[in-house]
Amino acid sequence: MRQAGRYMAEYRALRQRYTILEMIKTPELACEVTLQPMSAFDLDAAIIFADILPPLAGMGLPLEFVAGEGPVIATPVRTTANIAALRVTPPEESLGFTLEAIKLARRELDGRGLPLIGFSGAPFTLASYAIEGGGSHNFVHTKRLMMGEPALWAQLMEKLSEVVGHYLLAQARAGAQALQLFDSWVGQLSPEDYRTSALPYSRRAIEIARQAGVPIIHFGTETSGMLDLIRAAGGDPSTSSGHSVIGVDWRVPLDVAWRQLGEGVAVQGNLDPVALFAPWPQLRERAQRVLDAARSVGRPGHIFNLGHGILPETPVDNVRRLVDFVHEYSSEGNR
Ligand code: CP3
Repeated sequence: MRQAGRYMAEYRALRQRYTILEMIKTPELACEVTLQPMSAFDLDAAIIFADILPPLAGMGLPLEFVAGEGPVIATPVRTTANIAALRVTPPEESLGFTLEAIKLARRELDGRGLPLIGFSGAPFTLASYAIEGGGSHNFVHTKRLMMGEPALWAQLMEKLSEVVGHYLLAQARAGAQALQLFDSWVGQLSPEDYRTSALPYSRRAIEIARQAGVPIIHFGTETSGMLDLIRAAGGDPSTSSGHSVIGVDWRVPLDVAWRQLGEGVAVQGNLDPVALFAPWPQLRERAQRVLDAARSVGRPGHIFNLGHGILPETPVDNVRRLVDFVHEYSSEGNR
């Protein structure tokens, strides 16, 4: 959940010299940033340094990160002509820099015995950035297109699911040993809208990515009212190759979510990232609660993580203590 980033001084130092897009597009720099948290903390896996949005640039939507404003797409997609103009190109052509970064990072990580996670935004979350032109609160443009022009919505989502699926597959073929699909804003949808307008496209992307045979982590926020559908989008783990992991945020107790998801699926989560701002005793107690909740379900297959991305001002000492505590507590027979 953004292991790299602004909370680390090493990252901020590099960012003084390069923009985020320069860092993403230069494999040596992306590799360096990927490794920064691995050297600072005793983490169990690295995630490749990239962002969920470059696939949109590859489809023909120029992307910028504007200080204080976040990601901006100057030419949002709203019309039939806009959607028809979106390109579906092989990831090697438009996202080769990340595939290269994965190869470089794997070489370094193999020496340390640590696995690398590749990732992509999910079709719905990418559609929301493409249509809104950036971040959004109410997703009015996105939902207006989804509700009012279902055929056009389907065209857009079909293109996105191909791009996402093949991008994930290419990352696994370049060396990523697990894949994470970020559907960060999908909790904005009603379960019924998710079922008809987002699920089929996430399912298609996951189906393509599954050909790689590596575990896939399907992450969303505010999904507690539709966990059965989130699981359904990941395919039935008993019939597909690879393992299914569902990532959940802190708005649902981990044990409740896991029981609801049922057998045959692992879970990732779900500490509130803001807990890292609390004094250590309170942070420790909250982390322990997450681990105890996972243990109470009585199944193997919990990946401890934050429920969403780590925040820029997060105290680094608390990150280190948290990582060490999770290892200690899990190895004390508490899992
Ligand atoms: O840990 C890692 O290094 C993984 C790399 C990673 C980044 N973004 C790097 C990044 C990952 C996995 C992401 C995912 C991502 N990006 C998501 C999904 C996860 C989530 O939080 O829900 C989303 C929605 C984005 C889009 C995005 N990128 C936003 C909203 C922002 C913040 C913009 C701002 O100025 O506040 C980014 C920028 C971004 N992506 C940063 C990093 C380290 C901060 C860049 C910086 O200014 O240095």
